[in-house]
Amino acid sequence: MKIGILTAGGDCPGINATIRGVCKTAINHYHFEAVGIHSGFLGLLNKDVEDLNDLTSSGLLNLGGTVLGTSREKPFKKVDGQITDKPHIIINNMKDLGLDCLVCIGGNGTQKTASKFAKLGVPIIGIPKTIDNDIWGTDFSFGFDSAVNIATDAIDRLHSTASSHKRVMVIEVMGHKAGWIALYSGMAGGGDVILLPELPYSIEHIKDTILHRIECGKRFSIVVVAEGVKNPGEGRPSEYIARMIEETTNIETRVTVLGYIQRGGSPTPFDRNLSTRMGGYATEMIAKGEFGKMVVYRGNEISSVPLSEVAGKLKLVTEDNDLVIEGKHMGICFG
Ligand code: F6P
Repeated sequence: MKIGILTAGGDCPGINATIRGVCKTAINHYHFEAVGIHSGFLGLLNKDVEDLNDLTSSGLLNLGGTVLGTSREKPFKKVDGQITDKPHIIINNMKDLGLDCLVCIGGNGTQKTASKFAKLGVPIIGIPKTIDNDIWGTDFSFGFDSAVNIATDAIDRLHSTASSHKRVMVIEVMGHKAGWIALYSGMAGGGDVILLPELPYSIEHIKDTILHRIECGKRFSIVVVAEGVKNPGEGRPSEYIARMIEETTNIETRVTVLGYIQRGGSPTPFDRNLSTRMGGYATEMIAKGEFGKMVVYRGNEISSVPLSEVAGKLKLVTEDNDLVIEGKHMGICFG
């Protein structure tokens, strides 16, 4: 069995650990062959691949990014309202390369593409990857825990300068549709105001929260903003929020945009083990001939769900999330 592995969409810690999990399980346990496809689906269009072996899949466990490279190539994207011949070029190239199946490591867009290839009869397995943790069907995707660790460390550090200067520090974290990073790092980092794309906010309520903290003797505040929150301003949402806070409270307010730092560096031990477990499970599915599914992590168990159930769905934070409820009970403002 010759397995093709590709990584698509935004990079994140844990991708290389997943590649390692697939390769080492495939080669050592099932005596399969593994082929690395460069730059996501672009690599299949251009037959840009490399053989992977036990040696090339070593040293990947703690390495950030993806050694295969990635892209946001969408083969099913219509041009002038028409599907192009890219999907069929890819299917033919898979045959020319002797690939028996495909493991697609990626986020929502990648799993949607994988689902379309599955419908065309391509033996394919998806492994969920994103720092946003917004992929439906899995409790967590690898990359998320690493991003939350990075963001939480940043929030911890902002407390020093906030308390020293008696300022409001606004930090913008990633998550353009789902506020999971803001929620988890905001709660772990002791955010006083946590703004999520899924929940509406009012400047008045944020102002009242900050002023009430001052009345209680807490002369600084930490505001955690997901990049996807509603933004009536021109620039970044954090800049708009900071400007409104300073104008309505008269307190010095500063902004930190964490950006791509959340996607860099070595995966946490949790993400390394989640990646390893998902990579190994995907290879077991191949051995059993189980295709057209995405590997998932639910209640600390690894299993799979049909790609058709995942495609096009987002996992968003809801008002009844227990971290949101607990935060509100503790006096944290969610907007
Ligand atoms: O989907 C992961 C993510 O990091 C989002 O949080 C962020 O908004 C987006 O990717 C950035 O996309 P790009 O890497 O293409 O700039």
